[in-house]
Amino acid sequence: MTQTENHKLWGGRFEASLEAWVEEFGASISFDQKMAEFDITGSLAHVTMLGETGIISSDEADQIKQGLKELLVDFHAGKLVFDVTNEDIHMNIESLLTAKIGPVAGKLHTARSRNDQVATDMHLYLKAKLSEVLEKLTALRTCLVTLADEHVETIMPGYTHLQHAQPISFGHHLMAYYQMFTRDSERFAFNIQHTDLSPLGAVALAGTTFPIDRQLTSDLMGFAAPYVNSLDAVSDRDFILEFLANSSILMMHMSRLCEELINWCSHEYQFVSLSDAYSTGSSIMPQKKNPDMAELIRGKSGRVYGNLVGFLTVMKSLPLAYNKDLQEDKEGMFDTVETILPALAILTGMLETMTVNTATMAQSTEKDFSNATELADYLAAKGLPFREAHEIVGKLVLDCTKVGHYLQDVPLEVYQSISPLIEADIYQTLQSKTAVERRNSLGGTGFEQVKVQVQQAKQVLASE
Ligand code: ARG
Repeated sequence: MTQTENHKLWGGRFEASLEAWVEEFGASISFDQKMAEFDITGSLAHVTMLGETGIISSDEADQIKQGLKELLVDFHAGKLVFDVTNEDIHMNIESLLTAKIGPVAGKLHTARSRNDQVATDMHLYLKAKLSEVLEKLTALRTCLVTLADEHVETIMPGYTHLQHAQPISFGHHLMAYYQMFTRDSERFAFNIQHTDLSPLGAVALAGTTFPIDRQLTSDLMGFAAPYVNSLDAVSDRDFILEFLANSSILMMHMSRLCEELINWCSHEYQFVSLSDAYSTGSSIMPQKKNPDMAELIRGKSGRVYGNLVGFLTVMKSLPLAYNKDLQEDKEGMFDTVETILPALAILTGMLETMTVNTATMAQSTEKDFSNATELADYLAAKGLPFREAHEIVGKLVLDCTKVGHYLQDVPLEVYQSISPLIEADIYQTLQSKTAVERRNSLGGTGFEQVKVQVQQAKQVLASE
């Protein structure tokens, strides 16, 4: 193919064209068209600046602006047709603009490179998506606090090693996730600071001889400031890596909660029932009600981690400044955005609509030894060294397992033969509710402590 048949915007120094399949390998238009709107926004800021600084005439700037605005309207109407021979979104938009307004469109790329243009688009895109992530995280956190508030006094088994450990408040368990998702929010909010910078005007790598006004374009696009160093602006993608890392931690948190929901709605636990709206059936087993959405969130953590590791690997040996490898920054970022946003909404919906079987939760702490620490603490509080108390209770638990009953079933005479320190109030102490209620050390599961956590969280949410 000769250059006249398929002339590129960069075609001047070429005598021959790429073969179509090679061209397709290098093209990004199939995926970077997601940034079309941001590409036009960036171009509008750039051309406004070119006009205001007199780098191009105000008449030329107006014609280009008009053309870009029309392209935006066409885009929203679904009328823009992209062409793989124009490689990426930047050259597609420029070529569509040329078709619309003629050769004056060629002035738009003065004092600009696709290198600062693509970085600008990515910053605009991610900044917008990060605000959506924060909104969805706030909804999830609010839902957890509301649920926790309802369940301060709902007793459930607390686990270590997935074995019953000590009874806890279900509200306390939920508030643990609230804390994790709050730190996730803080990480994404910090990520916004690193994304809220304008690379525009870094040009290819070294800035430009034209009297551009980077502050103006930065302000026009709503960024907090321009990047300080042009090489940094066009060659680093740490704002994306940070997003992928934050998203990986978020998915890990969501996945853990989903794993618990999956357990809790199983026949073995029956702690919660998920709403039909978030459950699916089986094509063969008529009785099935499966927690598919929770499983998918758990499963999709894999692709988000993959996107992080994949892109870290892309970046690790790139010499400054731009390299085409950087085009690989997009799909993992888009995929992560498109994974975490619905996952957050689905998890919130699942929690809001599930039924909590409070009686089942509480009962499961009644036929177990999760009150063994209470007995040991009871003895220790009466002056017995904790190690001795631990030994005594351990032996008693062993005896109980042989007899087939629990600590609350041991007769008072037996208790008093074990230790005269034990009195009739032991049965009250051994109750799950008492065990939870009394754990009022700072940050503990005691009802008063959980209420404090819920109140603090409400204040935090109200202040955001
Ligand atoms: N599509 C390219 C990317 O996503 C745009 C920048 C191309 N720059 C270049 N010098 N080839 O990275």
